[in-house]
Order: sequence, then C-alpha cells, then structure tokens
Amino acid sequence: MKKVGLLATGSYTPERKLTNSDLEKMVDTTDEWITTRTGIKERRIAADNEYSSDMAAKAARDCLGKVNLRPDLLISSTATAERACPYQASIVANRLNLTNLGAFDLNAACSGLVYSLAVAKSMIQTGPYRNILITASEKMSMLTDYTDRASCILFGDGAAALMLSSEQPEHEILATELGLDATGSDYVIMGGREDYYFRQDGRKVFKFAVTIMGEMIDRLLLKSGASKNDDFYIIPHQANYRILESAARESKLPQDRFICYIDHYGNTSSASIGLALDEAEKEGRFKKGDLVLLIGFGGGLSWAGAAIRW
Ligand code: COA
Repeated sequence: MKKVGLLATGSYTPERKLTNSDLEKMVDTTDEWITTRTGIKERRIAADNEYSSDMAAKAARDCLGKVNLRPDLLISSTATAERACPYQASIVANRLNLTNLGAFDLNAACSGLVYSLAVAKSMIQTGPYRNILITASEKMSMLTDYTDRASCILFGDGAAALMLSSEQPEHEILATELGLDATGSDYVIMGGREDYYFRQDGRKVFKFAVTIMGEMIDRLLLKSGASKNDDFYIIPHQANYRILESAARESKLPQDRFICYIDHYGNTSSASIGLALDEAEKEGRFKKGDLVLLIGFGGGLSWAGAAIRW
C-alpha cells in the first residue's frame, strides 16, 4: 500500500474579532459564563461580503505556498457554502487557477475535514491521484442567531487547508476511522427551510462527544500500534474546552495532550481541527516521531479520526 503523508497545512481567519464583552452587549450573558462553560474568549467573524469559498481559497493559497506541487484532486469540506452551484471546490479551483483536476465538496458537519482526509488517503492509495488538496471552510456566523444566547457565543468563522501526497510521504497518515450514529441526527440542526439557524441539544452532544473521543483515542492508538504510554497528542474538534477536560479525565490522560485554541477561535465547525493543526505546527508543538491524533465529532452525529506519525 502506498504511503500517504500530510505534506503541508494552511489557514485563514477573518480580521474582525467578536469578544465575550461584545456579546455581553448583544445578549444576556457574561464573559464569566462563556469562559467557564466553553473556554471561549473571542472568535473571528467574516465580513458580510466574505464567503466561505473566499476563506477556503485563502487557506488553500497559504497551504500551496508551502509546497511545490499542483493538486490533482481538490476536496472542499463545508456545511456553509454560499451556493449549491457552483459548489465550493469549483469556486476555489477557479480562484486559484487550478486546472486538470477533479474537485468535489464534502459535508460531514464538524467531522468534515477528517472525513475528507480519510477519503483523500484512500483515493491516493487506490486511485490515480498523487496530490490531494483539502479545504475546510465555515462561515458559521451566517447560520448563527445572534439573539440566542445559548448558541451565538459558540461560533466563529475560518478556514484551513491540507495537502496530502504520496510523493513525499512525510507525516505519514497511519490510520483513519469514520462513523455515524444517525439516531442522533436531529440533535444538531442548521440551514433548513424552517430551522435556518443553528440549534442543538447541547447536553446530548456534549455526552456523545466525550464518549466518542475516548473510543477514538483507544481505536486510533490500537490501529497505529501505539499505547497510552507513548508520546502522542490529540487535536480534537474545538467545540468546548469542557468536552476536552472531561475526555482527558475519562481517558486518564494529562490535559496537555489535548491541543486547544478554542479561546481565540471558538467553534469553527469543520475548519477547527485544521486551524488548530496549522497553529500547533507553527508553534512547533510536535517533534519528529510524535503521534498526532485528529478527532472530529459533531452533527450527524458523526465522528472521524486520523492518526499521523509526525
Ligand atoms: N449566558 C448566560 N446563561 C446562559 C447562556 C449564556 N450565553 N446560555 C445558556 N444560559 C443559561 C441557560 O438559559 C440555563 O439557564 P437555566 O438553568 O435558568 O435554564 C443555564 O445557562 C444552563 O444552560 P445549559 O444549556 O444547560 O448549559 P450547559 O452547561 O449545557 O452549556 C453548552 C451549554 C452549549 C455550552 C454545552 O451544552 C455544550 O457545549 N454542549 C456541546 C455542544 C457542542 O459542542 N456542539 C457543537 C456541535 S459540534
């Protein structure tokens, strides 16, 4: 089987910050409530005329600037595309003058980036593809009701990009896992005709997230031939800091194994793992040989995991 590596990452976040003190002026909430219940301090919000595809293209440009490769396939993860057609991958390819490639969108809510990574890995291993670009971009502000204090404090906008390649299989992707429990499909809803704005059963999603994180850590370690005593890091979907605290407690792992930037980006749905990965990479948080576990979970209720040898 061909080895597939995660060659480069890229990211983009809008300039505008929405802080907890800004939210205090918009709804009946406090910085203290938001910080203790979620760990979020501020989020980025796209301009009215800045769409998910604009952010995806910028993250993709950032990623492509680090590698001397042209993608032969583009997968765009998004649940917040501004149009059904042209779909997001088509807009991004056009913006970046990418030609001679296949391109499609993938929507698996907050698990979308890791779903895309699993699909891309197997398409490289089984198909004619060598270099696959993934974007994960979300304009969550578009689907957020800024009069609902229970949800408007959670979300931010942003985009990430990843380049997978079999040509230089550095940071090898050792294993992936995909899953769905469709019995919880109405626990997270957004973008419908009647229920346009985001709403969720927060407690049920919280419990699901903690359980699935524990299971994914065990399964990804097993598939990678590693154990809890090895050096590894977890980059989970950045939904709520308390989910990570509970997952650490239940998995009997130290909190510093969990990489978290939720304080300054909030929940950016499928972009969140990519943003955290890009930031962690810039800060040099991983050394060669470390195992990095990406764990997505969210609407669907979906989950997806990937183990990468750094
Ligand atoms: N400021 C102040 N009070 C707030 C508030 C806010 N922004 N939002 C809700 N409250 C109040 C509620 O009205 C409720 O008041 P009551 O007890 O008088 O009825 C109280 O705080 C508790 O609300 P609850 O919704 O039970 O809080 P919670 O502890 O479950 O936290 C979430 C809410 C959303 C932070 C939490 O459930 C969560 O993060 N769940 C995971 C969801 C997730 O990650 N979803 C993303 C999908 S990927």
